[in-house]
Amino acid sequence: MSRSYSSISYLAAFFMLVCCTRIEALERADLNERVEEILSAMTLDEKVGQLNQYDVGESDLKKAIAEGKVGSVLNAVGAALTDELQRIAVERSPHHIPILFAFDVIHGLRTIFPIPLGLASTWDPESIETMARISAEEAGESGVRMTFSPMVDVARDPRWGRIAEGSGEDKTLGSIMARAYVRGYQGVDLSAPTSIAACVKHYVGYGAAEGGRDYNTVDMSEGRLREIYLPPFKAAVDSGAVAVMSAFNTLNGVPASANDHTLRDILKGEWKFPGLVISDMYSIRELMPHGVATDAKDAARKALLAGVDIDMASGVYLDHAAALVRGGVISLSMIDDAVRRILRVKFQLGLFERPYVGDERDANKSLTAEKRASTRAIAQKSIVLLRNEGSLLPLSKSVGPIAVIGPLADSKPVMLGNWLGKGNADEAVSVIEGIRSKGRDIVLFNKGGDILNDAIDGIDSAVEVARKANVVIMVLGENVDMSGEAASRANLNLPGQQEKLLEAVVATGKPVVLVLMSGRPLSIAWASTHVPAILEAWFPGSEGGNAIADIIFGDSNPSARLPVSIPRSAEQVPIYYDHLSTGRPTGANTRYQTGYLDLEISPLYPFGYGLSYSDFEYRDLHAEVLLSGDDKVKVSVDVTNISQHAGDEVVQLYIREPASTIARPVIQLKDFKRIRLNPGETRNAIFDLNFNQLRALQPDMSFVVNPGIYRVGVGSNSAKLLEAPFEISPSGAIAREK
Ligand code: BGC
Repeated sequence: MSRSYSSISYLAAFFMLVCCTRIEALERADLNERVEEILSAMTLDEKVGQLNQYDVGESDLKKAIAEGKVGSVLNAVGAALTDELQRIAVERSPHHIPILFAFDVIHGLRTIFPIPLGLASTWDPESIETMARISAEEAGESGVRMTFSPMVDVARDPRWGRIAEGSGEDKTLGSIMARAYVRGYQGVDLSAPTSIAACVKHYVGYGAAEGGRDYNTVDMSEGRLREIYLPPFKAAVDSGAVAVMSAFNTLNGVPASANDHTLRDILKGEWKFPGLVISDMYSIRELMPHGVATDAKDAARKALLAGVDIDMASGVYLDHAAALVRGGVISLSMIDDAVRRILRVKFQLGLFERPYVGDERDANKSLTAEKRASTRAIAQKSIVLLRNEGSLLPLSKSVGPIAVIGPLADSKPVMLGNWLGKGNADEAVSVIEGIRSKGRDIVLFNKGGDILNDAIDGIDSAVEVARKANVVIMVLGENVDMSGEAASRANLNLPGQQEKLLEAVVATGKPVVLVLMSGRPLSIAWASTHVPAILEAWFPGSEGGNAIADIIFGDSNPSARLPVSIPRSAEQVPIYYDHLSTGRPTGANTRYQTGYLDLEISPLYPFGYGLSYSDFEYRDLHAEVLLSGDDKVKVSVDVTNISQHAGDEVVQLYIREPASTIARPVIQLKDFKRIRLNPGETRNAIFDLNFNQLRALQPDMSFVVNPGIYRVGVGSNSAKLLEAPFEISPSGAIAREK
């Protein structure tokens, strides 16, 4: 009985799926026609309404929606609320155009994953895609159909708190991760209720803020912009991201939300981006304090001319755009173009067909075991093992009494990091809970004082507790509000008195495992020579405590790699691995070379670095240029796990380029692969580098493959590579350019 019932319902579901797919295909075919149909019936004021994004907190929100003055709403989350607001738009507004609900779903909505810097540390695009897919499902079920993610700003200055929100210092890693985010959020079919629009941010250059101070000035050459800062945006847009957010900062004197060069010439012109551009929050109004707009009307004019389609929360389009058109300052066709872009995205999302969510699924009301397992597995891959002297880790299960010390050890909120969506800290697993759940009943705990407090009165009692244990796990780092937006720091030290606490506990002579949690790389120079085992766990998400305990006790073998260089001190920043050589590189036997008199210039831990409980050996590197068919360089290397532990290695491939008209970076990441190796196992890793990956910037801002002798470097981080040469002959390079 039940079998036949289920097969009937299966058939019905299949039939519906086929029908729906056909209907959707039909709708897609005449999407432009439907957009034009609506557009032609709209008044100027209604068009301006589509360009206006209201925050859910606006007091006249419902009235404004009914009057057609709101095209999208930010921060409304939950099906009951979004459906209520949607009903007003669909039933009462002039053209029944549904609202697009947008929210910052950055590393999860309900199920919280590691912060983006931690996600980038996985060097595993699949993990990012899984995170984004689960986020999209939870968001869609909560009425949210656009996320302000991914943040793809390249960041090379850890003082900038928003380094936490991106994929680190490298454009190639950043581009690969950007594609994975977009694939995960938007899915194979954007119109599915569980797909959400990706809004790539912050366009552009925001990560290069002078002094690492948030919102600060950015000044860079067009070459650097095109070579380093634009590629992750291009990657996201090429992957189909339907929205881009214009940033807060000036770029060479022009604020991002008034920058027609980056928005109209590059994004909408060169790249032919068909989607919508939304300003960052209030950034249109902020054209006034920037000093480029005389008043709010002028700010609206500048942003419209630059190509910003939606005004996030400033209200200046609502107040002035229609008057600007009526006064002949802005053409109607410019407004029409913006409205078309917005309506197209609404159609692509299927909002006209399915404006409502209905009942929020139960899955969204609590964390399911399945989603917990997923975020735990990803968190395991995001925790970087920085040091492991004498193989202190993994700890044996019979290690005896363990002291857990530190202000973050029992904190649940810290596990989630900032931009925690609708995550619930009560459901997060703290480090001490994770350790206890391993059955370790002999755990002694001491907070060791307050992280923000300069008082040192917790130190003595922490030392006493340490003395009673066989091993000490110290959980130190930053509080959640010390990174993210408006959270720049002038130094990168452990905040408060934590360094003193660490030194006092290490002085007991007990073996110490340091677990760091932070939204940025911390300069831990002392710890890097005095503490035998160090893990950087970032802010690891809802299951963070379990994932950390899994690593500590060897139930998971660390495999994360740094997406950023860790400086010795803030005095070294900006610091990044793919710098130029200079005419006087370091290493020569002379004083007259680049560097400091009082500090090394190398980082404490290089880009791509991360240890494992396994050891890997690289042999037999070959690079061969193949010019028949698809031109490529085939790179092959043997990687062997020479340890007793099965583990994942992230095989990284870098290039050193030949001389060119514009100086080339000393080294550049081009590709990587995560491979799993059993003890004693050897695998042959093969990379196909296509010629596009070898293109280098030219003085006219084009990208061309330079002929000459290259060196390929393959290994486990940017400072530990096996190298081999290959040559691109002038004819090979020319053939490819045709
Ligand atoms: C941030 C954006 C964010 C927006 C909406 C701004 O302050 O810079 O990253 O998406 O707020 O919450």
